[in-house]
Amino acid sequence: MLRDSHGRVATDLRVSLTDRCNLRCTYCMPAEGLAWLQAQSVLTDEEVVRLVRIAVEHLGVREVRFTGGEPLLRPGLRDIVEAVAGLRHRPEIALTTNAVGLEKLAEPLHHAGLDRINVSLDTLDPETFHRLTRRHRHTDVLAGLAAADAVGMAPIKVNSVLTRGINDQEGPELLRWCLARGYELRFIEQMPLDGDRSWNRANMVTADEILERLQAEFSLSPQPEAVRGSAPAQTWLVDGGPARVGVIASVTAPFCHACDRTRLTADGQVRACLFSHKESDLRGPLRSGGTDEEIAALWRTAMWGKQAGGGIGDVAFEQPARSMSAIGG
Ligand code: 5AD
Ligand code: SF4
Repeated sequence: MLRDSHGRVATDLRVSLTDRCNLRCTYCMPAEGLAWLQAQSVLTDEEVVRLVRIAVEHLGVREVRFTGGEPLLRPGLRDIVEAVAGLRHRPEIALTTNAVGLEKLAEPLHHAGLDRINVSLDTLDPETFHRLTRRHRHTDVLAGLAAADAVGMAPIKVNSVLTRGINDQEGPELLRWCLARGYELRFIEQMPLDGDRSWNRANMVTADEILERLQAEFSLSPQPEAVRGSAPAQTWLVDGGPARVGVIASVTAPFCHACDRTRLTADGQVRACLFSHKESDLRGPLRSGGTDEEIAALWRTAMWGKQAGGGIGDVAFEQPARSMSAIGG
């Protein structure tokens, strides 16, 4: 198992399949993009599947989520999903995507074994979408979501990040839109993981603010802590349920004490935490003939040293060198 010295056990693996993206969300990437990983340092499809297999067979991982950058840009995504779905002790397989291109891929991915999907959508207005993502792809995102729904992927979750002065008034409208379609909406507080390094706490739209705006239009009743488990989102029943809305207060109420995540970057580095300054290389050992057990042991060691929390609230907090798109959300 992947235990850490603070008593937590990681069973949820997040795999970033590429650091590239076709959008440039202001809270994630600079307009000009970033210095992309060299092709030869990115794990091959076979290497990804082998590491996932080791995690599932040797380390107790039960859920695998593919992220990016934008994971739909990875040509082998469908094959990777299919191979992971074929593992014994098949893990649950999820995807976090911006949904650009999902219109065509929803069916093949669902067929290959993808169980669940989280789509990032911050606004219902195409112009606001362009301000936030610097790209005109709003129509593609809506079409991608509709396609995922049409092939029967469920539940469909929508992630929204609010930015002050741009879409911070849109919470209720986004919720109404998701309720009408049966999607579960979750707001995520903006974290200091942006490529521009311009995050600042004073300007962040907080969970309390988001809730206050929602409560003006909906009746929200909190769900008990027991329902939450290790999920980062705190959830509320909307207007008596069964529909729910979630808020991930990563900054104002971090949930580090129950974190069950382990992360793998596209270039084969284990990160114990989004905010780690340390990464542990598995690609080297993988390429120089390491056995499954040797790689599993390195992964265990990396996780044992996991920090207690992200530390965003500490005076000494320093943003990690890699931004969200290179770590995987
Ligand atoms: N803070 C919070 N969420 C972020 N995401 C990307 N960057 C940040 C950030 N700095 C979100 C995306 C996507 C998920 C992978 O993480 O909107 O939904
Ligand atoms: Fe791309 Fe996601 Fe980052 Fe937006 S948040 S630029 S969609 S990786």
